[in-house]
Amino acid sequence: VRVTRPQKRATVRSVCVDANPSHRPCVRDAVVPIPGPGQVLLAVEAASVEGGDVLEASRARVATILGYQCAGRVVACGAEVDEAALLGRDVVALVSGGAHAEYVAAPAASIWLRPAALPPEIATCVPIVHATAALLVERLDALDAREILVTGASGAVGAALLERDRARRRYACATRGGERVAWLRSHGADDVVAYDELASRRFDAVVDLAGGPYAEQGLRALSYRGTLFLVGNAAQRTTQLATSAVMHENRRVEGFHLRYALRHEYARVHALIVELLEAAAGERLRIEIDRRYPLPHAAEAYARAASTERRGRVVLSPISG
Ligand SMILES: NC(=O)c1ccc[n+]([C@@H]2O[C@H](COP(=O)([O-])OP(=O)(O)OC[C@H]3O[C@@H](n4cnc5c(N)ncnc54)[C@H](OP(=O)(O)O)[C@@H]3O)[C@@H](O)[C@H]2O)c1
Repeated sequence: VRVTRPQKRATVRSVCVDANPSHRPCVRDAVVPIPGPGQVLLAVEAASVEGGDVLEASRARVATILGYQCAGRVVACGAEVDEAALLGRDVVALVSGGAHAEYVAAPAASIWLRPAALPPEIATCVPIVHATAALLVERLDALDAREILVTGASGAVGAALLERDRARRRYACATRGGERVAWLRSHGADDVVAYDELASRRFDAVVDLAGGPYAEQGLRALSYRGTLFLVGNAAQRTTQLATSAVMHENRRVEGFHLRYALRHEYARVHALIVELLEAAAGERLRIEIDRRYPLPHAAEAYARAASTERRGRVVLSPISG
């Protein structure tokens, strides 16, 4: 389906993945969005299922179209967009939702040209995970933190952190266990820890991807003036931190969200993602795909993304298969 004029509402329908009361993503029809001012319309070719998507599916309002990231082609432009520069271009996009669909409207400010050598199903895996890892490494550098604990370390962000930074500092990878232990070791983790071992350990910084009770455990495992980075909530549980545990050992707690980094440090973070896409195209960045699913099999894709058997990334591709 080609949609070239955003002014007219397209009568074609598009398939999307939305949230529903059972929290099992459903595939439904949706009207093709019209790109507003500053937006482009993408025909989606591939879309990664992110840790954030799994989390969002568990809590989103009914009928919310899921998906934070995709690769696709610009098929229409809204007002205030440089149509000559973008129409027909292959891009990667970050959106606040709606990427798990045949079409999505994306802000022109959060799209990146996809290098020709980079297949869409790899490109879609790059921005969120690898920019998050790179920006966290910058913060660890600034603090001169040497001993790091990562909770939920066997996921995409944990693997990206390890790949990027394990030669420069020591990472302890916390996991709930099982086969993930061997997977973490095969990806270079030499210190894999169970959560119940943390009481006797101390770290300069904790990167908390698991959230809930694991964040509190991480906080208590910080040494003097250590920093807890609150990044994720893979456990899908409320995170409550005791202020006394922050005061003890003069600890600090710092939040991280890529969306805010992009909003407040736009030029720098945008350029970082360009670099990361080029690194992936040049195979200097390793992206491991676990499985690909066509969009109509999105429920299976989400289940796989949340399963402990997953090794690497889950991608919806081809979207219209
Ligand atoms: N703030 C940001 O900008 C930002 C950016 C990227 C991601 N995130 C967030 O960071 C988190 C991790 O992202 P990701 O892409 O790495 O996710 P992922 O690939 O799904 O991995 C999450 C890991 O968390 C652990 N986990 C899963 N369910 C759990 C549970 N119920 N209890 C405890 N641990 C559990 C698993 O490790 P084990 O099975 O080994 O325990 C899993 O490998 C997500 O919450 C995501 O939303 C935030």
